Amino acid sequence: MRNLVDILDFTTKEIDELVAVAKDMIESPEKYAHACDGKILGTLFFEPSTRTRLSFTSAMMSLGGNVLGFSEAASSSVAKGETLSDTIRMVSVYADIIAMRHPKEGAPIVASRVATVPVINAGDGGHFHPTQTLTDLLTISRKKGRFDNLTVGICGDLKYGRTVHSLIAAMSRYENVKFVLIAPEELKLPDYVKEEFLTGKTYVETDNLENAIAELDILYMTRIQAERFTDPTQYERLKDVYILDAAKLKSAKADLSIMHPLPRVNEIAVDVDDDPRADYFVQAENGRYIRMALIMMLLKTKGINDVRYKGEENAELECVNPHCISHTERGLKKLFVGDTCVYCDQHAARK
Ligand code: NCD
Repeated sequence: MRNLVDILDFTTKEIDELVAVAKDMIESPEKYAHACDGKILGTLFFEPSTRTRLSFTSAMMSLGGNVLGFSEAASSSVAKGETLSDTIRMVSVYADIIAMRHPKEGAPIVASRVATVPVINAGDGGHFHPTQTLTDLLTISRKKGRFDNLTVGICGDLKYGRTVHSLIAAMSRYENVKFVLIAPEELKLPDYVKEEFLTGKTYVETDNLENAIAELDILYMTRIQAERFTDPTQYERLKDVYILDAAKLKSAKADLSIMHPLPRVNEIAVDVDDDPRADYFVQAENGRYIRMALIMMLLKTKGINDVRYKGEENAELECVNPHCISHTERGLKKLFVGDTCVYCDQHAARK
């Protein structure tokens, strides 16, 4: 079966098809009301979520299917010490497809190896969030009608913001996309994301939103990810570093698209909500339709096996990312490609 662990698991052609189906679903939802009759989606959320979990639930219900799952690790057997692999093996026999969110980076790779049904990554730590990116791409397509020739500003927590990493991966495949990466020094885009997706691409890094705003076609605001900070005083210092308000939008293009994966805290003032350029609530709505298209697509892919995260054991290397699943999952082989950890994509250290 197919899985969606990383947005690059899908070709640009497959993304175009998903976007086209989602648009048709928006136009004619009744056509799809029985597309997944009798099928069950398992939603395994080991970390909090509103939009992602509810939009997956709503998507499956809109296709005629059913949903089971949990919304916090405390209410599952994880609280009794069960490994992720065992939980996934079990859910594989109760559900036809799994959407999972986990605080550990690389957790969906572990899941996709043992699952006998398709696994969708609904967010793994500060790593990736490919279904948010599908949502973002549908929003960009509806608003701009294209993915190329765009100047994309991404502002806020580029270090821990998993939606940012997946969006950059996806958009880096299109022609003439310029990225303007707006973040304070402490929250700059990690090197592994730059190396993987931005090598040879056009991007600038700045900490100044006001100066950057005029040239942007898209401004993707993000929340400072409080839950990922190891030092709470650093979070307190940085939490309100960017606040987009009506005054700052004066120099922006008339057809700017203001996006945000939500939830927002303070980074977009409510006086922006009525601006016709504010697309973040439509973006959240788009999440339901693109997830309908995704579930339908993955349920049709029986017989294909795309588990491609192979790698090799290497006794000389050690993953030093404390958020990587390889440190907590019992019995998991620690695998590397070159000196890169297969699970979290970060460079390993020599022992
Ligand atoms: C995002 C996430 O979970 O990474 N939320 C979402 O899925 N829409 C963004 C965030 O939490 O800041």
